[in-house]
Amino acid sequence: MSDSSSAQQPIQQSNSNDFYMVENTLVIGLGMIGGSLAKALKENGFSRKVVAFDNSVESLKIGLKLQVIDSACTDICKGVTEADLIILAVPVKATGSVLAMIKPHLQDDCIISDVGSTKGSVIEAAKRVFGTVPANFVPAHPIAGSEKSGVEAANSQLFSKHKVIITPHAHASDKAALTIARMWQSTGAEVLQMQVEKHDEVLAATSHLPHLLAFSLVDSLAKESQSLDIFRYAAGGFRDFTRIAASDPTMWSDVCSANKSAILQQIDIFSQGLANLKQSIIDEDEQNIKGIFIRARAAREHFGKMLTGTAYAADSENKNVTFELQPGSCLSGEITVPGDKSISHRAIIMAALAEGVSHLDGFLQSEDSMATVQAFRDMGVVIEGPHKGAVKIYGVGLYGLCPPPGVLYLGNSGTSMRLLCGLLAAQKFDSVISGDQSLNSRPMERVAAPLRAMGANIQTSATGSAPIYIKGGQKIKAIDYQMPMASAQVKSSILLAALYAEKSSSIEQPAATRDHTEVLMHSLGLELQVIGNKVSITPGNEIAGFNLNIPGDISSAAFFIVAAVISKGSDITLKGVGVNPTRLGFIHILRLMGADITLTKQRQDNGEAIADIRVCYSPLQGINISDQYVSIAIDEFPVLFVAASCASGETQIAGLSELRHKESDRISAMVDGLRELGINIEEQAEGVVIQGGQIQGGKVDSRGDHRIAMAFAIAALVSSTEISISNCAQVATSFPEFVEKSARAGIRIRKEETNVSK
Ligand code: S3P
Repeated sequence: MSDSSSAQQPIQQSNSNDFYMVENTLVIGLGMIGGSLAKALKENGFSRKVVAFDNSVESLKIGLKLQVIDSACTDICKGVTEADLIILAVPVKATGSVLAMIKPHLQDDCIISDVGSTKGSVIEAAKRVFGTVPANFVPAHPIAGSEKSGVEAANSQLFSKHKVIITPHAHASDKAALTIARMWQSTGAEVLQMQVEKHDEVLAATSHLPHLLAFSLVDSLAKESQSLDIFRYAAGGFRDFTRIAASDPTMWSDVCSANKSAILQQIDIFSQGLANLKQSIIDEDEQNIKGIFIRARAAREHFGKMLTGTAYAADSENKNVTFELQPGSCLSGEITVPGDKSISHRAIIMAALAEGVSHLDGFLQSEDSMATVQAFRDMGVVIEGPHKGAVKIYGVGLYGLCPPPGVLYLGNSGTSMRLLCGLLAAQKFDSVISGDQSLNSRPMERVAAPLRAMGANIQTSATGSAPIYIKGGQKIKAIDYQMPMASAQVKSSILLAALYAEKSSSIEQPAATRDHTEVLMHSLGLELQVIGNKVSITPGNEIAGFNLNIPGDISSAAFFIVAAVISKGSDITLKGVGVNPTRLGFIHILRLMGADITLTKQRQDNGEAIADIRVCYSPLQGINISDQYVSIAIDEFPVLFVAASCASGETQIAGLSELRHKESDRISAMVDGLRELGINIEEQAEGVVIQGGQIQGGKVDSRGDHRIAMAFAIAALVSSTEISISNCAQVATSFPEFVEKSARAGIRIRKEETNVSK
C-alpha cells in the first residue's frame, strides 16, 4: 500500500517578520513559465529587481514591453555575477549546459532553483557540473501551466492557488530552501516538499502520462484516413481531453527522456488497464466495463474529499454553509424523508458479501452512506447507482473482497468505520481506514478490543482512534462478549467478524440498541438467535443476492416531528418511515411529554416495521426522562433538548455519556447553543436539566455536526427573532435535502454558502 501521506509536507506560510526578499533575481529563459514567475516577483516586490536572460533577443524585448521584467540581460556572465537568486526556466535537458555556463560567475551565496517538471535529471545535471549538488541549489516544480507558450503568455497569477513542489536535497542550506519556498508563496502558490524520486514517480502518473496520452491520441487520429471528418465533428469531450496536446513539443520530448523509467512504468500500468477494458468489450462483459467506469467516476470525487479531509467537498474549495432561519411558521401537509442511514450502510455491506446481484430501493444518497459504497468499490465490488435511491450491487461473496488500493477513506461516517473494522479484521488482506478530523477523533478501541479478543490484528492511534491499521490473514475465533456500553455499531462490527469464525458467537448488551443488522442478517437466512439483549450468531450460511426497500429514516423524521409538536397550528404526516421498535425511544419520550403522534398504515417489509406518522401541535410538559430510553433514542437527543426547551417546567435527562462521543460532544454543543438562545440549561457530566422557556434569536455554532445543525433549525420555529447557524455543511452526511424539504414543509430556512479556500 503506498503511503501518500508522508510523500508531501506542506511548508508553513510565512508571516511578515520572516519574509525573505532578494535584491536581484535573474530568470534564465523567458518563456511562459519564466515570464509568469518574473512578472509575479516584479509585481509583488519579492525581488528588488527582476532581470532576464534569453537566447532570443525578441523575447527579451517583449518581456520589457509587457513589463514582465525590469531589465534584460544579453551578457549572461555579467547577469550571473550580479544575481543573488537565479531561476532556470529552460527545458530540463538544457539544465546541465546552462549550469556549466553560469558556474564560473556565481556569487558564493547565490541561490539557484529551477522550474522543470522532472527533478531527478536536474539533480543529476547539477552533480555532473558541480561534482556534488550545491547547498544553495533547491530544485522546484510549479504544478501550473498552460498550453500556451512564450513570454507573450506570461501571467503573474498563473501560480496563485496552485501547488509548487520543492525538492531540497539532504544537505541543502535552510536559507536557500526557505527563500525558494517564500518566493513561491509570494506568488500565491501552496508550497509542498517532496523527495526527488517521489516527485518524479507522482508526476509521471499525474502529469506526464496524461500529456503523452493526449499527444498520442491526436497523432493516431490525425493519421486515420477520415481524419478531417474526425476533427470536424470532434465533440467537447475530444477537445477537453486533447487540450494539452497543444503543449510545447520540445519541452515534452525532454520530459520523456528526463523521466524515462517512471513514465515507462506508468505507460505499462495504463496499457494493462486499457487491455483489460478492451478484453471486456470483446467479451461483452458489461459488469466489468461498468465496474471500470463507475469506479473511475466515483474515484474522481472521492479523492477530492480525501484531499480536503472532509466528508462533502467535491473540489479543493471547502464550503462554509450557514443556515439562516426566520421564526413564526408551522408545518403542514405530507412529507417523505430520505432512506434510513443505518439500514443503507448495512444493505450495502450485506449485498457486497452476497453471492449474486442485489437491488436496493430507497437508499440514502448522503455522504455517510456513500462512504460505505466507495469503500466497497475500493475493494472491487461493482455498485451501480445510486440513482433516485436505486442501487444495484454485484456481490462478491464472503471471501471475494479485494485488497483496496490505498487507505479506505470514510469521511464523517462512524457507522462505516466501526462496521468495516469487524469485516476487515476477517479478510486476508491488510487495510488502513481513516476519516475526517471529527471521525479521526472518535473512540475506536470499543470495536478494536473485542475484535482483538477474536484474534484480529488491529491497531488504533495513541488516543484509541483512527487511522486504524488492520493486518489481514488472521484466524478469527468465536467470542462470547459482554459489551461494556450500549452500541449498535460495536454489536454489528462483532456480528460481521463472527461470520468468519468457526463456531457460534454471542454478544450481550447492557441495553437494547437498534437491531437492523440482526433483522437484515435474519431475513437473509443467517442463523441468528436473539434473547433479550443477547444475540447469538452461527456462521456457515452463504448469503444470496436480495431485493430490499429501505424505509424513511426515523432519525431524519424526528426533526419534523419535533417541529410539528412545538409550532402552533402544525399538522403533518410523514410517509413511509421506518418504525423499528429499537428506534422509537424519542416517540415514547415525546408522548410522555404530551405530544400528539399517531402511527398509521403500519406494515412490515423484510422484518422492518414501517408506518406513516401523523403529528399535530401539542403543548409539552417537562418530565424526568428515564435512562431506559437513552440507547433507543440516541441520535434524537439534540432535537429532544429543543422540545424540552419549549415544554413548560423542568426536563431532566440522565445517562447521556455516549452523546459526548458522537460527531461532536453533543451535550456541550447543545448546552452552549441553547444558552446562546436564552434557555436555562444545566450541563452535567452525563446529562442535562432544562428549564422550558422562550427561545430567543441569535447565532449558534453547529460544530460541524449534522444533527446539532438540524436541531437548532427546528428551534427557530418558535424563537423570538431569527437564528443563524454556522458550520452546517455536514448536514449532507445524513440529510442532503434538509433545507429544501424543510422549506416545502413550511420552515422559513435559507442556506448561505461561501467558499473557503484550503
Ligand atoms: C448507528 C448506531 C448509533 C447511532 C449512529 C448509527 C448504527 O450509534 O448513534 O448514528 O447505524 O449502528 P451507537 O453505536 O452508539 O449505537
